[in-house]
Amino acid sequence: MSFLSAFFYDRCLATAEEACLREWRQELLGQVSGHVLEIGAGTGANIDFYPETVVRLVMSEPDKNMRKQLEARLENSNLENASVSGGSAENIEADAASFDFVVTSLVCCSVTCLDTVFLEIRRVLKPSGCLVFMEHVAADERSNRRRWQNRVTPLWRRLASNCHLNRETEAAMLSAGFTIREIKHESMRKVIPLVRPTIRGIAARD
Ligand SMILES: C[S@@+](CC[C@H](N)C(=O)[O-])C[C@H]1O[C@@H](n2cnc3c(N)ncnc32)[C@H](O)[C@@H]1O
Repeated sequence: MSFLSAFFYDRCLATAEEACLREWRQELLGQVSGHVLEIGAGTGANIDFYPETVVRLVMSEPDKNMRKQLEARLENSNLENASVSGGSAENIEADAASFDFVVTSLVCCSVTCLDTVFLEIRRVLKPSGCLVFMEHVAADERSNRRRWQNRVTPLWRRLASNCHLNRETEAAMLSAGFTIREIKHESMRKVIPLVRPTIRGIAARD
């Protein structure tokens, strides 16, 4: 991300955070505990919602401009036992089976290879572990919105740090071997129509 995109990231999402994202983050993160890895933590929008049941939290963020904001936010938070790391989700710097939960929020749209990322997440999760996700995704295949997502994505990716409007994230999760335990499909409010379709929930590693 450029310095400017990172600088304006929170401001761009502010109305959507107020309209729905904060509530969704709270609902999802209230369920995590133990050893937790967050991938693509950005500016740290999830920091306020981690419960005390989290024993160790690793917040990974490859972009140095986003990471600076993440570190500053973490320093000003009450979170103990949390650390920040770099590195991309395609090559997670962690031992196999070392986390109870992996968290992704608004990240799967931007990674380079979603299939590799899900295999990596499964590798670092304990056998009983779960992925907690909140992602904007492709609209229904036959919809007009989806046709527009397909048309606009090549340009959008260049303007918005590799963000794809038409990612089939749920299907990729299933192909990687996850079992979806809970999923909600809902429209993200206060964003442009092509970004509105979202999924959020929990998927078990096995
Ligand atoms: C739209 S922001 C979301 C930030 C935060 N998770 C949130 O909920 O607001 C996407 C983040 O994913 C990160 N990202 C992009 N590609 C990545 C990759 N391959 N591995 C890990 N993080 C990545 C970006 O640097 C950026 O911080």
